[in-house]
Formats: sequence, structure tokens, C-alpha cells
Amino acid sequence: MTASHVFLRRWDKTLPTAVRGSGIWLEDVDGKRYLDACGGPICVNLGHSREEIAKAISLQAACLEYAHPTMFAVPVVEQLAERLAMITPPGIERFYFLSSGSEAVEAAIKFARQVHLAAGRKERYRVISRWQSYHGCTLGALSATGKSGMRKPFTPLLSPHIIHIPPPYCLRCHYKLTFPACNLRCAYALEDAINLEGSETIAAFIAEPVCGATLAAVVPPKEYNQVVADICRRHGVLFILDEVMTGMGRTGTWFAAEHFGLQPDIIVLGKGLGGGYLPLSAIGCREEQVSSVVDTFGGFIHGHTFSHHPVTAAAGLAVMDIIEREQLLPQVQRMGRLLGELLVPLTDHPHVADVRGIGLMWGIEFVADQKTCTSFSRSEKVTERLFDALMKAGILVYKCAGVAGNEGDAIMLGPPFIITEDELSLMVHTLRKVVEDFF
Ligand SMILES: Cc1ncc(COP(=O)(O)O)c(C=O)c1O
Repeated sequence: MTASHVFLRRWDKTLPTAVRGSGIWLEDVDGKRYLDACGGPICVNLGHSREEIAKAISLQAACLEYAHPTMFAVPVVEQLAERLAMITPPGIERFYFLSSGSEAVEAAIKFARQVHLAAGRKERYRVISRWQSYHGCTLGALSATGKSGMRKPFTPLLSPHIIHIPPPYCLRCHYKLTFPACNLRCAYALEDAINLEGSETIAAFIAEPVCGATLAAVVPPKEYNQVVADICRRHGVLFILDEVMTGMGRTGTWFAAEHFGLQPDIIVLGKGLGGGYLPLSAIGCREEQVSSVVDTFGGFIHGHTFSHHPVTAAAGLAVMDIIEREQLLPQVQRMGRLLGELLVPLTDHPHVADVRGIGLMWGIEFVADQKTCTSFSRSEKVTERLFDALMKAGILVYKCAGVAGNEGDAIMLGPPFIITEDELSLMVHTLRKVVEDFF
């Protein structure tokens, strides 16, 4: 145990002390530089220590740092909602601001329930999500999350009313089928679950459009998202699209919904919304849903001290300004294509099972045996040891252990959108070398 009074997140080693960030680089107290190939947990989308965002935050804090959202409307919060309404999928017009992705997921589930209650559908309280999804770690969000290792210690406390179906993960298909001959069996598992449980009891289906933190950037077959959206519509189930990781440009469009032509009922945002500068998340929903909830209940029965916070909204606006002015969406598309091209040769490595991704969100999965896709035993801690080796070499990546349920090793890359071609090459070159030495 160190002399620190911080309740640390990692106890197995002494962490270096970070003192400075600039662009895609972080620096520790000893002057060692790290290429931030994952923007923290894929949230530092615009790079570290941007003066424009720092100034916007400071100006807002100096002018009005807080006004209780039940007492005042605040211009900067109004402006952020108005700007988001212009870029979110059609029909999403109202935004409830929060601090973390987990909070926003919980709010989305509660709001879906209230929408049904307002419409007189009292029996609709169950939620369907997917195994190997990630929706957060507070108890409600963890109930939706499908990451077994994180759920296990808390299972008695998790909601029994959230049902999980298999993910669209072709490499390790739950049904042992192959796309396209499978006819999207995993998408129709949603319809099976709805029918088995009774569609009149299902409030919502929550899913990430691209499987993020738990499955390391698995992009579902193109038709998958549309099929599950249609199933939801047919059965009166609200489709909650969790774009906490994929939203705000990460996949090369403002939202991953655009790649799949999705019009969710509720969208969940976080991470890149505040660019890593301040904790900012949101749920976006439809005007008619809000009206009916307001007419029936007088409002959404929900609230946090730090919801609708003016200073975090100022950060969100500055983030959007930069993405637009610097044309970072086409930049993500360009750099994402290049990153994919640079990573694909890694699949020649005997311990690389798969390289997948979209935009600047890529995953690499490692296996003991490439032919049989057999994972290393989790006790070998391949992901964690590889992460440490990469960090030693000055590259920060996102750990995705447990891609194959309780087993499985993978890392994710999600660098800030401002990464240059040279920095991408350096990142992949170092990664390749570390992977070769490691195995
Ligand atoms: C898709 C998704 N939803 C929700 C969350 C939870 O967000 P937070 O860690 O801010 O609570 C995450 C975090 O990784 C996420 O990737």
C-alpha cells in the first residue's frame, strides 16, 4: 500500500504520475511521453489540453458556474441542446444532460418506462439488452451490461427484469453459424425473447450500434441494426441506442446511427460529448414522448445535482465547434481507413484472431490458437500484460479482456481525431513490434 490517500483503481503496480497533456501525447513526471492511442477510455476525442475548450470552460465558470435546473433555464445549456438537435438522428429533439454514460443509460431506461406508463402500458417494464455489451457500471446500467466478470459479484443486486440475448459477434457466433447463411439468427433472437417473455411486458431494447468496450469494436453485419430496429417497431418496444462510445464523431459520422440508417426512440450520449474535459452525458428523445410524460406526470421523475450543468455544457459546445470548424468527421473517415489498412497485416500474426473496426474505433483480438480461435486462459492475463508492455513502449491502449465471455483477450485503439498519418504509423509500428516481442 502506498502513502497515497486516493482509493486507487489499480493496486497491482505503482502508476506513473501524469503531469501534462498535449495533442495525442501525455507526459509523466519523469518526462516520459505516451502516445494516447485510446484517448483514455475512448473519450478524449479532440486531443489533450486544448486551450479553446479550457477557455470556454473558464469563461462559463467565471460568468455562471451553476443554476439549479429546476429553478432556471441557462443559455449555454439551451444552445447545446439546440445544436445537438441539428445533428442527432431525425426525431430526436429534446436533451436531458447528465454527467456519466452510466447515469445516462439509467435515465434512458427510466424514461422509457415513464413513456409507457404515460401511454397506459403499465405492464411494459422489462428491458432487453445483449450479452457482452457495455452500458456502464452503476447497478441499473450494470444490469443492462452483458460483461459477465463485472456482473458476477453484484448479480444478486442486479435487476432480474433485464433479459440478455446473444451479441452480433460472428467470430464467436453463439449459434455456431456463419454470416450470411445464418440469416441474422442473433438479430431474430430479439424477436424470440420478446415473444417468449410476452411483447406486452417489454419496455425497451438497449444496444450499442457498434459493440464497444466489451467486444472491442465489433461492427455487426450491415443489416443487423436495421433488423433489430424493425423488430422493436413491430412490437412497440422502444429502441434505446447507446452511442456513449460511438457518438460525437468516433465512427466518422456524428453518430453511428447514420451508417445503419437508424432512427432510435432514445439515444444515449457521453464520453466524447465533453471530449474528456468535463463529465458530460445526455439522453436525447422525441418531443411527443416528453409531452406525454409531462402531461401525465408533470415531468420526468428524475434528477441529479449536476444535471444540466452550465460549465459542462460550455465544454460540449466548444467540442462541437472544433469538430465542425476543423472538419474532423471527414478526417476520422480518412484516418480510420488508413488505420484499418495499417492494422490488417497484423492478422498474419499466429496469435491475432481478428482486426475489426470503423472510423477511429478499432479492436484487435488475441488467441492462443488462431485456427480454432481458442482463447488464452484468463489466468495468463494476456491483455493486461500486453497493455503493460505497450505502456512501457509509450503506447496507451484500451484493455478489452473477456471478449469471449469469461475468457478472451483484446485491445482497442481509439486515438483522438487529430492524429496525423505519421503518428498513426508510429503507433501501429510500435504496436506490431511489441506484439511480436510479447508472443
Ligand atoms: C457504450 C457505453 N455505454 C455506457 C458507458 C458508461 O459510461 P461511463 O463510464 O461514463 O459511466 C460506456 C463506457 O465505456 C460505454 O462504452
